[in-house]
Amino acid sequence: MAKVYNNNFTDELRQRLSIVDVISRRVPLNKKGQNYWGCCPFHNEKTPSFSVSEDKGFYHCFGCGEHGDIISFTMKSENIDFKTAIKELADMAGLKVPDYKPRDPAVVAREESYVQITDKAATLYQQKLFEESGKVALEYIKKRGFSDDMIKKYRIGYAPKNGIISGTFTNVKQDVLIATGLVRRGDYGLYDFFRDRLMFPIFNAHGQIVAFSGRSLDGSEPKYMNTSDTELFHKRQTIFGFNFARDAIHRANRSIVVEGQIDAIQMQCHGFPETVAPLGTALTEDHIAILCKANRNIVFCFDGDNAGQKAAVRACGIVLPFLRDNSDVRFAFVSGGKDPDEVLKTGGENAMKRIIDSATPLIDFLWETTNKNYLVSTPGGRSQAEKYLKSQIEKIVDVDFKREIENEYNSRKFNQWHKWKKNKDNTPQIDLPPVDYITQKTLVYIVNAYPELVERYGEFLSSLNIDFDAQTNNDSLLDIKAAERYIVSLKLQRYIQKLNKDKKEFIQMALSGDAGAKSQIEKIDSDIKTANEKLESLINIE
Ligand code: UTP
Ligand code: MN
Repeated sequence: MAKVYNNNFTDELRQRLSIVDVISRRVPLNKKGQNYWGCCPFHNEKTPSFSVSEDKGFYHCFGCGEHGDIISFTMKSENIDFKTAIKELADMAGLKVPDYKPRDPAVVAREESYVQITDKAATLYQQKLFEESGKVALEYIKKRGFSDDMIKKYRIGYAPKNGIISGTFTNVKQDVLIATGLVRRGDYGLYDFFRDRLMFPIFNAHGQIVAFSGRSLDGSEPKYMNTSDTELFHKRQTIFGFNFARDAIHRANRSIVVEGQIDAIQMQCHGFPETVAPLGTALTEDHIAILCKANRNIVFCFDGDNAGQKAAVRACGIVLPFLRDNSDVRFAFVSGGKDPDEVLKTGGENAMKRIIDSATPLIDFLWETTNKNYLVSTPGGRSQAEKYLKSQIEKIVDVDFKREIENEYNSRKFNQWHKWKKNKDNTPQIDLPPVDYITQKTLVYIVNAYPELVERYGEFLSSLNIDFDAQTNNDSLLDIKAAERYIVSLKLQRYIQKLNKDKKEFIQMALSGDAGAKSQIEKIDSDIKTANEKLESLINIE
């Protein structure tokens, strides 16, 4: 019988803490092959025969035969009882110990039937995929590039329109069935949660199915429905694909994190078996903790758009406390397709490899983001940037590493922020005409008087290549509203200039017979109209 997944506090500790971290606090360890080795703390020895497996979460001494996990190690090495050891480990993990109760055998038994039900449900869903009613679903998944082997391995299935679970498991207690999240209680009895959906089982780390994610096939919303949290399924602690990826994460000595589950499957099957995805939620600390137990090398793969940038900044904040001096965390942004699934489809493994290989190291990503978000060519902007960087570096726990990062950024600040001023004349000018003298003066005044506007319009303002350190006399009388209107109107004017430039190009294309150009011109005209209206309303406001 499969081992029952035991989701209590000790498991959470084992999940959160690296056994290598715990043991190396008392015993110096060295990595040799897959395992770490040191001199056994439980008997006297000069040559190391004490091995620690991060992967399995166990230590074993080949000299005296002692073995166990983080909890038994803490108990034995400090000669303390179970409760005290748990408390100590919880402190280390930054967790609070819940009131300790022995596990209720009835709950264990129920969990057993839970995974039996979800497993059987997956089998039923898959049968349906290959029956007449599943034809559309089968065609769909084939079109998405899933082979028969992939369908078998990931146990993909189809939940029919009328449901199948409530009618099949009639011998199971209703409460137990409801607890799996597969059915709900309605006015007329139980009904299936998933209907007319392509079904992706969600496996726990032990490879047991604990939940499902169902994709709609007719474009109806939501696109994906996931089992709500249950006793055995906690979205925030589950990473899709981890059970399949675990060995590969060790072999490749890194993990890749993508945004969607289809992306994760396609990546795993096309050259990147070390790929996982969070499930219908943004990335959480628990997700990172799970990955960092294997190793602290992660490539995050985000969409190339603004949302992707935002998600990367968020992930950066979550991963910083996990960083050690031997971590390699990088951020890749997908181009040439909407997501990794599309990149693999259109450009193949090589296109994806190029994206992964060109990922930006975290330390550079954080630096670049800071430089993009704050106007570092001004004292105010630099001071804000400094505060932001500091708030991020503060999250790093490893003190030596933290100091090194601080030094690195200090040197970048000196070389890039201050050099920026010295070499200003060499900085490339952007395409659009330079702003005139009066505009420059006004902007320098605004930037020095209203730092909050600098934050809001930093990117645009720095694109103008003005020396904002120049002195101004503050006798101008712009209030902040007027100042903001001024900047926005300037921004709009330049936008309109650019649209007009684009329009000229499309007119050329139309003249040389490009049929598509006409609709582009119409679109630009309407954009120009909207922008002009906005501009007008800005100027007319009193
Ligand atoms: P995407 O909208 O990027 O979907 O959401 P996708 O993965 O590219 O899916 P396909 O290719 O259209 O089938 C990314 C992830 O966010 C979660 C899912 O886990 C999805 O894989 N999601 C998305 C939901 O949980 N619910 C939704 O309604 C949409
Ligand atoms: Mn997709």
